[in-house]
Amino acid sequence: MDIKKVLDEATKELISCEDEQSIHFLRVKYLGKKGLITDLLKTLKDLTDNEKKEFGSSVNIAKENLLNQISVKSEQIRKNKINEKLSQESIEITFPSPNLSLGKIHPISKTFTEVIDIFGNMGFAVAEGPDIETDFNNFTALNIPEDHPAREMQDTFYLEEKDQEGKPFVLRTHTSPVQIRTMNENQPPIKIIAPGRTYRCDSDSTHSPMFHQVEGLLINDSANMGHLKGTLVNFCKDFFQINDLKTRFRPSYFPFTEPSAEMDIAYSVVDNQIKLGEGDKWLEILGCGMVNPKVLDNCKIDSSKYQGYAFGIGLDRITMLKYGLTDIRSFFNGNFNWLDENGFGLGRF
Ligand code: PHE
Repeated sequence: MDIKKVLDEATKELISCEDEQSIHFLRVKYLGKKGLITDLLKTLKDLTDNEKKEFGSSVNIAKENLLNQISVKSEQIRKNKINEKLSQESIEITFPSPNLSLGKIHPISKTFTEVIDIFGNMGFAVAEGPDIETDFNNFTALNIPEDHPAREMQDTFYLEEKDQEGKPFVLRTHTSPVQIRTMNENQPPIKIIAPGRTYRCDSDSTHSPMFHQVEGLLINDSANMGHLKGTLVNFCKDFFQINDLKTRFRPSYFPFTEPSAEMDIAYSVVDNQIKLGEGDKWLEILGCGMVNPKVLDNCKIDSSKYQGYAFGIGLDRITMLKYGLTDIRSFFNGNFNWLDENGFGLGRF
């Protein structure tokens, strides 16, 4: 059989191959053990030496040629396949989006928004301060002097860098230094909240080294404990969405308030679940009191003319209570599945 004819035949067939499989069959048909080209080589033994040389080399050239063509064609089929797949996967950006899984709002973020809303409706403006504070703002100005035992109430993260007084900077242990910053920059009337991050060396299921508080500060010429109580009870009813929320105020101690109190809300355990608002058990949720006149004086606010109240609420705590979450660490370990289950929709979709 004529080698040129066989090669022409193979080339023609190759052109009509459209997938890997048909190429495979073609390869077997021509180059396999019993293939047409292989068969031609088997006829070599019947030829003379000269003929052998000539014919052998022309068969080998044909074989080379076919192998080349096959590899070009295979590559072409592979590329076509990828292009086809890509064109099917491409996103038409002018179409409405398919049902993608959307991100969720973290419960702490949700609480931030709600707290700002609720106090905003009561006329409180939002103030901010830095996470890294001076020893003076975090402690001394708040009537917690150097050797005061109250410093031990809060296990502090100290930084290596020192402030102007030569004292190490601290990661603020509460949002109360924002009281100091606000009073240093403004004269009464003052009515602010300061939500933000706070830090203490502490870590278990109810304590996280980074946590959140909202500070409240109101200074005018007539504020009293009744106003403070009314504001906080209102806030809790609104936040927990419970109208007849049972609360109590217990005497407490903070160096920066006098008198000081802690507020508890009542709860009971029903079917292994915490039911907020009623019952004979109590949960502490915040610290508060009338601003100590010494703190006003430290901020150049005339304590013979002005008085006020302050409070500090643990935002992680009230978020856990509201949604029945038991481990504060779950807020901060970045588990997407947890957020998907416990987060909130964006409300726009
Ligand atoms: N700063 C206090 C704390 O972190 C809370 C507090 C704020 C108490 C304001 C009284 C007044 O525990």
